[in-house]
Amino acid sequence: MSFAKVVVAGGGVLGTQIGLMCAYTGHDVTFWLRSESSIERTKPKLERYSKLMLDDLAAAKSLIGNPMGAFLYPRGLIRSWDGITADMIDQLIACAQKYFAENIHLEVDMAKAVADADIVIESMSEDPKAKIGVYTAMKDLLPEKTILCTNSSTMLPSTFAEYTGRPAKYCALHFANTIWKNNTAEIMGHPGTDPGVYDQVVKFAAEINMVPLQLHKEQPGYILNSMLVPFLSAAQALYANEVADPETIDLTWQLATGAPAGPFRILDIVGLETAYNINQMKPDAATPGTTTYKIGQLLKAKIDKGETGVNAGRGFYDYTK
Ligand SMILES: NC(=O)c1ccc[n+]([C@@H]2O[C@H](COP(=O)([O-])OP(=O)(O)OC[C@H]3O[C@@H](n4cnc5c(N)ncnc54)[C@H](O)[C@@H]3O)[C@@H](O)[C@H]2O)c1
Repeated sequence: MSFAKVVVAGGGVLGTQIGLMCAYTGHDVTFWLRSESSIERTKPKLERYSKLMLDDLAAAKSLIGNPMGAFLYPRGLIRSWDGITADMIDQLIACAQKYFAENIHLEVDMAKAVADADIVIESMSEDPKAKIGVYTAMKDLLPEKTILCTNSSTMLPSTFAEYTGRPAKYCALHFANTIWKNNTAEIMGHPGTDPGVYDQVVKFAAEINMVPLQLHKEQPGYILNSMLVPFLSAAQALYANEVADPETIDLTWQLATGAPAGPFRILDIVGLETAYNINQMKPDAATPGTTTYKIGQLLKAKIDKGETGVNAGRGFYDYTK
């Protein structure tokens, strides 16, 4: 294993998933967290996501022999579905339990956390000031060899490179939520990233069971969101302009492309609050009469009713039944 020690900065939704995935694949993982109370907030997330991962592994046994199994198995947890047996999955579960118990450490002392780190993955709140503060505090503590990555969804690595003290060893490594099933890793350098370091990050992504997706230049939204955000906006515009209802829009998309879900199901998974925040960033969001304004009103009405998506039990669809 070329990356023995991984440090994850930030114990939120994505940070805990990334750390667990690294531990699952045999890496030694240290979470750097800013306070004892952060540690107490991170522990239940680690428990929740490790349980979800183990549950998905156990459930994969019932997919063996099912022709849909090859499409539905948790790809980050099982490297190859070909020839998989229930015994092999049981071994993966036992191994995961051992690694989750032994390979994960939580540390508030930054110097101790990053000592001997091969790679640090920053997955803190999407707040540039917080990220700059941590990069600045970390830069003199990191060993020479350490590669530093950001999981930021909306900000470019060139924004932060100068604060890291190691611009050549810095790039973005961007994961998707529920990383153990949606195992994409978009890798995006800034103009100063060393190509050799970039290749190392590609290798690391594969080492932790992700599919490395390489970007050749900086792109806000990476590959996925560059396509997904306009697609979801187009669907919302059809609804907001009363052209068609969400069910019909989804059905059209699914029948015509064979996709398993349409845009409104995807919006329910993403969460309506996130969709609202993205919509409100557009320049015409506050201009009455515009499509963007109408979409904002529509999403806000649902959010005010608590219908924020799958996690709330109801969004554009009802998940309580
Ligand atoms: N949630 C997603 O679906 C998703 C997907 C891909 C990438 N991301 C990216 O991952 C990063 C984290 O997102 P998240 O959803 O896990 O957020 P989150 O709010 O769940 O977690 C953020 C974490 O950052 C910590 N933090 C905030 N300020 C800090 C500081 N000054 N010092 C130390 N720690 C600090 C918080 O304590 C928390 O543990 C963001 O950059 C986001 O863009 C999120």
